[in-house]
Amino acid sequence: MNITVIGRGNIGGGLADRWEQAGHKVNRLGRPGGDAGAAEVVLVAVPGDAVQAALSSVTGLSGKTVLDATNLYGDVKPPAGFSSNAEYVKSVTGGPTAKVFNTNIASLYDRVANARVRPSNLWSGDEEAQRLVEQLSLDAGYEAVRLGDLSMAATQESLAHSVIAIAQSGLGEFVYRLAAPEQL
Ligand SMILES: NC(=O)c1ccc[n+]([C@@H]2O[C@H](COP(=O)([O-])OP(=O)(O)OC[C@H]3O[C@@H](n4cnc5c(N)ncnc54)[C@H](OP(=O)(O)O)[C@@H]3O)[C@@H](O)[C@H]2O)c1
Repeated sequence: MNITVIGRGNIGGGLADRWEQAGHKVNRLGRPGGDAGAAEVVLVAVPGDAVQAALSSVTGLSGKTVLDATNLYGDVKPPAGFSSNAEYVKSVTGGPTAKVFNTNIASLYDRVANARVRPSNLWSGDEEAQRLVEQLSLDAGYEAVRLGDLSMAATQESLAHSVIAIAQSGLGEFVYRLAAPEQL
Protein backbone atom coordinates (compact mmCIF):
# COMPACT_ATOMS: atom_id res chain seq x y z
CA MET A 1 0.00 0.00 0.00
CA ASN A 2 1.12 3.54 -0.72
CA ILE A 3 1.10 5.61 2.50
CA THR A 4 1.96 9.27 3.18
CA VAL A 5 2.81 10.29 6.75
CA ILE A 6 2.53 13.98 7.64
CA GLY A 7 4.88 14.27 10.61
CA ARG A 8 7.94 12.03 10.70
CA GLY A 9 8.75 12.12 14.43
CA ASN A 10 8.06 9.52 17.13
CA ILE A 11 4.65 8.54 15.78
CA GLY A 12 4.96 9.29 12.06
CA GLY A 13 8.52 7.99 11.78
CA GLY A 14 7.88 5.05 14.11
CA LEU A 15 4.80 3.85 12.23
CA ALA A 16 6.52 4.47 8.88
CA ASP A 17 9.30 2.10 9.99
CA ARG A 18 6.79 -0.59 11.03
CA TRP A 19 4.75 -0.23 7.86
CA GLU A 20 7.82 -0.38 5.62
CA GLN A 21 8.84 -3.58 7.41
CA ALA A 22 5.36 -4.92 6.59
CA GLY A 23 5.96 -4.19 2.91
CA HIS A 24 4.26 -0.82 2.43
CA LYS A 25 5.74 2.16 0.57
CA VAL A 26 5.86 5.24 2.82
CA ASN A 27 6.34 8.88 1.81
CA ARG A 28 7.51 10.84 4.90
CA LEU A 29 6.56 14.56 4.99
CA GLY A 30 7.70 17.05 7.62
CA ARG A 31 7.38 20.80 8.06
CA PRO A 32 8.22 21.64 4.42
CA GLY A 33 5.12 19.69 3.31
CA GLY A 34 4.80 17.95 -0.05
CA ASP A 35 2.29 15.96 -2.10
CA ALA A 36 0.06 13.11 -0.92
CA GLY A 37 -1.64 12.56 -4.27
CA ALA A 38 -0.25 9.05 -4.74
CA ALA A 39 -1.27 7.85 -1.28
CA GLU A 40 -4.07 5.37 -0.60
CA VAL A 41 -4.02 6.47 3.03
CA VAL A 42 -2.52 9.43 4.91
CA LEU A 43 -1.40 9.52 8.54
CA VAL A 44 -1.44 12.88 10.39
CA ALA A 45 1.12 12.83 13.22
CA VAL A 46 2.07 16.44 13.97
CA PRO A 47 1.74 18.40 17.23
CA GLY A 48 -1.95 18.90 18.10
CA ASP A 49 -1.80 22.65 17.46
CA ALA A 50 -0.03 22.26 14.08
CA VAL A 51 -2.74 20.38 12.17
CA GLN A 52 -4.02 23.39 10.23
CA ALA A 53 -0.50 24.47 9.25
CA ALA A 54 0.51 20.93 8.35
CA LEU A 55 -2.50 20.23 6.12
CA SER A 56 -2.10 23.57 4.34
CA SER A 57 1.43 22.60 3.26
CA VAL A 58 0.34 19.28 1.71
CA THR A 59 -1.33 18.91 -1.70
CA GLY A 60 -3.35 15.99 -3.05
CA LEU A 61 -5.37 15.37 0.13
CA SER A 62 -8.84 15.70 -1.34
CA GLY A 63 -10.97 12.60 -0.69
CA LYS A 64 -8.12 10.65 0.93
CA THR A 65 -8.63 8.27 3.81
CA VAL A 66 -6.86 9.91 6.76
CA LEU A 67 -5.74 8.39 10.06
CA ASP A 68 -5.30 11.18 12.60
CA ALA A 69 -2.99 10.35 15.53
CA THR A 70 -2.77 13.85 17.02
CA ASN A 71 -3.47 14.69 20.63
CA LEU A 72 -4.36 17.91 22.43
CA TYR A 73 -2.44 18.65 25.61
CA GLY A 74 -2.71 21.50 28.08
CA ASP A 75 -4.51 24.52 26.66
CA VAL A 76 -4.40 23.31 23.06
CA LYS A 77 -7.87 23.20 21.50
CA PRO A 78 -9.08 21.90 18.14
CA PRO A 79 -9.45 24.49 15.36
CA ALA A 80 -12.34 26.93 15.95
CA GLY A 81 -15.73 25.43 15.18
CA PHE A 82 -14.63 21.80 15.64
CA SER A 83 -14.86 19.55 18.68
CA SER A 84 -11.86 17.45 17.61
CA ASN A 85 -8.81 17.64 15.37
CA ALA A 86 -10.13 14.61 13.49
CA GLU A 87 -13.37 16.39 12.53
CA TYR A 88 -11.30 19.36 11.36
CA VAL A 89 -9.17 17.02 9.23
CA LYS A 90 -12.31 15.59 7.61
CA SER A 91 -13.58 19.10 6.82
CA VAL A 92 -10.38 19.70 4.83
CA THR A 93 -10.02 16.37 3.03
CA GLY A 94 -13.66 15.25 2.69
CA GLY A 95 -12.60 11.58 2.76
CA PRO A 96 -13.05 8.73 5.26
CA THR A 97 -11.40 9.77 8.53
CA ALA A 98 -10.33 7.96 11.68
CA LYS A 99 -8.87 8.97 15.02
CA VAL A 100 -6.35 6.24 15.79
CA PHE A 101 -2.86 5.61 17.24
CA ASN A 102 -3.32 8.52 19.68
CA THR A 103 -3.71 6.27 22.76
CA ASN A 104 -0.55 4.21 22.24
CA ILE A 105 2.96 5.24 23.24
CA ALA A 106 5.41 5.44 20.33
CA SER A 107 8.48 4.41 22.33
CA LEU A 108 6.94 0.94 22.76
CA TYR A 109 6.46 0.24 19.04
CA ASP A 110 9.66 -1.86 18.95
CA ARG A 111 8.41 -4.13 21.70
CA VAL A 112 4.86 -4.62 20.45
CA ALA A 113 5.95 -6.91 17.61
CA ASN A 114 7.15 -9.48 20.18
CA ALA A 115 4.13 -9.27 22.49
CA ARG A 116 2.54 -12.56 23.68
CA VAL A 117 -0.90 -11.13 22.88
CA ARG A 118 -1.65 -8.25 20.58
CA PRO A 119 -2.24 -4.93 22.38
CA SER A 120 -5.33 -2.92 21.39
CA ASN A 121 -5.46 0.28 19.39
CA LEU A 122 -8.59 2.36 19.96
CA TRP A 123 -10.12 4.06 16.97
CA SER A 124 -13.16 6.14 16.20
CA GLY A 125 -14.34 7.32 12.83
CA ASP A 126 -15.95 6.51 9.53
CA GLU A 127 -16.80 2.90 8.67
CA GLU A 128 -15.25 3.45 5.23
CA ALA A 129 -11.88 3.74 7.00
CA GLN A 130 -12.29 0.53 8.99
CA ARG A 131 -10.45 -1.83 6.63
CA LEU A 132 -7.38 0.41 6.49
CA VAL A 133 -7.42 1.10 10.23
CA GLU A 134 -7.55 -2.63 10.99
CA GLN A 135 -4.84 -3.52 8.45
CA LEU A 136 -2.41 -0.77 9.42
CA SER A 137 -2.98 -1.43 13.13
CA LEU A 138 -2.13 -5.10 12.56
CA ASP A 139 0.91 -4.15 10.50
CA ALA A 140 2.12 -2.06 13.45
CA GLY A 141 1.47 -4.94 15.88
CA TYR A 142 -1.91 -3.85 17.31
CA GLU A 143 -5.53 -4.98 17.12
CA ALA A 144 -7.95 -2.16 16.33
CA VAL A 145 -10.92 -1.73 18.69
CA ARG A 146 -13.69 0.64 17.63
CA LEU A 147 -14.84 3.33 20.05
CA GLY A 148 -17.49 4.79 17.75
CA ASP A 149 -18.03 7.10 14.82
CA LEU A 150 -16.21 10.35 14.19
CA SER A 151 -18.38 12.16 16.76
CA MET A 152 -16.44 10.14 19.38
CA ALA A 153 -13.07 11.51 18.23
CA ALA A 154 -13.15 14.29 20.84
CA THR A 155 -13.72 11.68 23.56
CA GLN A 156 -10.81 9.66 22.19
CA GLU A 157 -8.56 12.73 22.04
CA SER A 158 -9.37 13.46 25.69
CA LEU A 159 -8.15 9.96 26.64
CA ALA A 160 -4.57 11.14 26.06
CA HIS A 161 -4.75 12.79 29.48
CA SER A 162 -5.69 9.45 31.04
CA VAL A 163 -2.84 7.68 29.22
CA ILE A 164 -0.33 10.16 30.65
CA ALA A 165 -1.90 10.07 34.12
CA ILE A 166 -1.80 6.24 34.20
CA ALA A 167 1.85 6.22 33.07
CA GLN A 168 2.74 8.79 35.72
CA SER A 169 0.82 7.03 38.50
CA GLY A 170 3.20 4.11 38.82
CA LEU A 171 2.77 1.89 35.75
CA GLY A 172 5.15 3.78 33.50
CA GLU A 173 4.87 3.36 29.73
CA PHE A 174 2.22 0.73 28.99
CA VAL A 175 0.12 -1.01 26.38
CA TYR A 176 -3.51 -2.04 26.90
CA ARG A 177 -5.82 -4.75 25.68
CA LEU A 178 -9.61 -4.63 25.40
CA ALA A 179 -11.09 -8.05 24.79
CA ALA A 180 -14.43 -9.85 24.73
CA PRO A 181 -14.78 -12.47 27.53
CA GLU A 182 -14.52 -15.37 25.07
CA GLN A 183 -11.02 -14.18 24.24
CA LEU A 184 -9.88 -14.65 27.86
N1 LIG B 1 4.91 10.33 21.11
C1 LIG B 1 3.89 9.57 21.49
O1 LIG B 1 4.06 8.53 22.17
C2 LIG B 1 2.49 9.95 21.09
C3 LIG B 1 1.45 9.05 21.40
C4 LIG B 1 0.17 9.30 20.94
C5 LIG B 1 -0.09 10.47 20.23
N2 LIG B 1 0.91 11.35 19.98
C6 LIG B 1 0.58 12.56 19.21
O2 LIG B 1 1.07 12.39 17.88
C7 LIG B 1 1.50 13.64 17.36
C8 LIG B 1 2.96 13.53 16.97
O3 LIG B 1 3.72 13.24 18.11
P1 LIG B 1 5.26 12.88 17.98
O4 LIG B 1 5.68 12.41 19.33
O5 LIG B 1 5.48 12.01 16.80
O6 LIG B 1 5.90 14.33 17.71
P2 LIG B 1 7.39 14.67 17.19
O7 LIG B 1 8.28 13.51 17.39
O8 LIG B 1 7.73 15.99 17.80
O9 LIG B 1 7.20 14.87 15.61
C9 LIG B 1 6.39 15.90 15.12
C10 LIG B 1 6.47 15.93 13.62
O10 LIG B 1 5.55 16.92 13.18
C11 LIG B 1 6.16 17.70 12.21
N3 LIG B 1 5.58 19.06 12.23
C12 LIG B 1 5.60 19.96 13.23
N4 LIG B 1 4.95 21.08 12.86
C13 LIG B 1 4.55 20.87 11.60
C14 LIG B 1 3.87 21.65 10.66
N5 LIG B 1 3.45 22.88 10.94
N6 LIG B 1 3.64 21.13 9.45
C15 LIG B 1 4.05 19.88 9.13
N7 LIG B 1 4.70 19.07 10.00
C16 LIG B 1 4.95 19.58 11.21
C17 LIG B 1 7.64 17.73 12.52
O11 LIG B 1 8.26 18.03 11.30
P3 LIG B 1 9.87 18.05 11.06
O12 LIG B 1 10.26 16.59 10.92
O13 LIG B 1 10.06 18.79 9.77
O14 LIG B 1 10.46 18.71 12.27
C18 LIG B 1 7.83 16.31 13.04
O15 LIG B 1 8.14 15.42 11.98
C19 LIG B 1 1.23 14.69 18.45
O16 LIG B 1 -0.03 15.28 18.21
C20 LIG B 1 1.22 13.85 19.72
O17 LIG B 1 0.43 14.44 20.74
C21 LIG B 1 2.20 11.12 20.39
